This record gives sequence, C-alpha cells and structure tokens, in this order.
Amino acid sequence: MRAVDIIAKKRDKQELTSDELKFFVEGYTRGDIPDYQASAWCMAVLLNGMTEAEATALTLHMARSGDTLDLHPIAPFVVDKHSTGGVGDKTTLVVAPLVACHGLPVGKMSGRGLGFSGGTIDKLESIRGFNVSLTTAQFMDMLAQHGVVVSGQSADLAPADGKFYALRDVTATVESLPLIAASVMSKKIAAGADAIVLDVKVGQGAFMKTVEQAEALARLMVKIGQGVGRKVAAVLTDMNQPLGAAVGNALEVRETIETLRGGGPADFRQHCLTIGGKMLELAGKAGSLTEGERMLAESLDNGQAWAKFVEWITAQGGDRSQLENPDLLPTATLIETVAAPRGGFIAGVDAAEVGKTGVDLGGGRAKKGDPIDYAVGILVHAKVGAQLAQGDLLFTIHANDPAKLEAARQRLLAAVAWSETAVSAPPHTLMIIE
Ligand code: URA
Repeated sequence: MRAVDIIAKKRDKQELTSDELKFFVEGYTRGDIPDYQASAWCMAVLLNGMTEAEATALTLHMARSGDTLDLHPIAPFVVDKHSTGGVGDKTTLVVAPLVACHGLPVGKMSGRGLGFSGGTIDKLESIRGFNVSLTTAQFMDMLAQHGVVVSGQSADLAPADGKFYALRDVTATVESLPLIAASVMSKKIAAGADAIVLDVKVGQGAFMKTVEQAEALARLMVKIGQGVGRKVAAVLTDMNQPLGAAVGNALEVRETIETLRGGGPADFRQHCLTIGGKMLELAGKAGSLTEGERMLAESLDNGQAWAKFVEWITAQGGDRSQLENPDLLPTATLIETVAAPRGGFIAGVDAAEVGKTGVDLGGGRAKKGDPIDYAVGILVHAKVGAQLAQGDLLFTIHANDPAKLEAARQRLLAAVAWSETAVSAPPHTLMIIE
C-alpha cells in the first residue's frame, strides 16, 4: 500500500477500507507518512466526507494506535465528558472535580486549543507546575488516589489523535464531521471510561454551525461509543455566543475558581450542572438529570467541589497559591474596557469572532507548536438579551501588545449585533441524544 494512493482514492470520493485506514493511521503515527501527505488526506476527508463504516474504522484504528486502558482494576465505573470545542468552554475544569466529589471517578484526556476554540490542556497549563503529560501508570495512579485525572494526549494513549489534532489545527481541516467524531471517540475509547457525556456545541462559535450537523455528529459518536460497549449521551448546547464571560487561558481558570466557589456566570454554572448531572445519571448515581443537577449545585455551594479541585490540581503538580490567590496566575500588562457605542438590546455576540480575537491577542496558535500567551483574553460582560445604555461595559480586553489591543477592540465592537427591541436570551441546551 502507498499513502499517495489512499489520498487519491479519498480525493476521488471513494470509500476507504479498514485496512487502508489502518495503514494510514499507523504510518502517520510512526512518522513514516509525513505531515504533507497527512494534510492532503485530511483535506480530502474534509471535502469528500466518510461513510459511517469508514468513520468507525478510523476511530478504532486511532484508539488502538497506543495503549487502551482498562480502568476496572482500580475503579468499577469511570465517567468522562468531552466537548467538541467552543469559545469560553472551561467546563471540564469545573465538572471533573464536581462529579468526582460525589465518589464517581472521572478520568479524562483533553486536547489543546484547536482553531479559534480553546483547549482544556492549554487552560490547565496556565497554572504553574501543572503536569499534563502523564504516563499511563501516572494516569491510573491519579485516578486510584484522587478519583479525578485530566491528562494531555500522552505518547501512550491514542497518539494518532495527538498528531492529527495538531495538524488539523493548522491546515484548516478541523471542521470535518468524521474527523471530529474519530478524534473525540478514539480518545474516549482509549482512556477507558464506562460512560461518556458528549457536549456537542452548535452555532457560530462551534465547528458544527447548524443543529442538523451537530445532531448528525452526535448520533455518529453515540453509535461508535455504544458499538464498543460504552454508555454514551450527547447534549447539544448553544455556542453562538461565548460560554460564561471569560475567553482566554488564565482568565478561564479564574472563572473556574469563581464557579467552584459558588459564584461565576449563571449560564456557565447551569451548563456545568447539566453536563455533570448527566454524568451522574448515566452512572446511576442520580435517578434523573434534575436530581443530578440538584446534587451538584449543593456541592458547588458547600465547598466540596472547590476542595476536590484543589486536591486534584495540586496532586497533578499545580501551584496551590495560584488557586487560592488567582492574582498570581499569568496576568496581562494592558487591561482595558470596551464601552457600548450605543444603547439597545444585545442580539448577538459572535462567538467565533471573540474566539479569533483571543487567538490574535496571542492566546491561541497560528501554527503547530507555537507558544501561547496564557495571560491574554477577553471578558464578555453583556450577553444576548441584555439591555445596555451607551457607555455601559461590553468587554474587558487583556493584552500584552498595544497594537493587538487596538485591533481586538475594533473586532469585538464589530462582533456585537444590536436590536432596538427586546431580545430574549436563547435556550442553552438544545437537545439530548442517548
Ligand atoms: N475535539 C476533539 O477532541 N477533536 C476534534 O477534532 C474537535 C474537537
């Protein structure tokens, strides 16, 4: 077999066999197939799609490109969650300790920022000392001792996804339904969780722009997971505007801390309760989503979730002083507000534009392996439905470069849509697929 023939076959809209996909995934993971051929293949997949059989085979070969964990010797039932990526999505940072403090082990592999959407691993790395590169043994150990672990894509678990993910980020090949499904589910399958809640984002700030696309992705992922014996539910949530207020790595860690201490933006808190509540329900710890949400709200308010967060972050090497005093997290040198240029109702805050502004400030990557600035980002003060007078606070920009700050100001002002008449806040949870 030759990589070039496999690329040509996908370019010509033909279905690849499981053996061809195995050859490509294994060859790229080993380094025998170079980035330029893998880039061409990803683009062919993005343009021409895959059948369900191809997507399933791709997922399984990616999951088997490294170790696949069996967590049962240390925990009888492990849960996981995964977001397809959004703007301001720091949900894992809250939900992992929140669910774990109910005695339900959470073992998770996360990714870095992808395109304009942020990544949990980048956010966690804004905490000094936090170790995202765990070996399989360390992953298991954390889970056994603390009931919660979040690791980056290690050399051991689904290494194929680690390589494809970084490549897609910089080759405009993220927004492919089968590539997203295989990326998400290969990690989930390799990391060994029994139950998985998928947070499938829909809208301007998501890779899936319409409910129809998101539903198709959700159904494909649920099917792949159930096919290998996992309990899977997908929650479709709105990503037309950023989630919560903070967009940017260290700023999102701050918002996580506020939320775990019982505060935080209302939309973000509710989102965490829904995703976490579904995890409790799938694991049989709660009789219903409502009961799960109630249990979790209690632990946000009584300090249990916060205590578990501190235990987890410090066990993975994170600096406790930065959690207790978030002012010690990376902080930008230029912090400026953006005022409303007019009065009216907010009809839209384009999440993709806010996400891209964050990347341009230095919070994301332009090419594979670029360093990022953890301190920069945006606080979104007015969400859809809010009524503002001229001069009211719209955004706060955290920057380390005056020219980038000015560009961000212009871009953010253009990202807001106004209405003369009242606008109701859109529903956040759109659909649940099991
Ligand atoms: N999240 C993933 O893990 N992979 C993707 O491809 C997109 C979002």
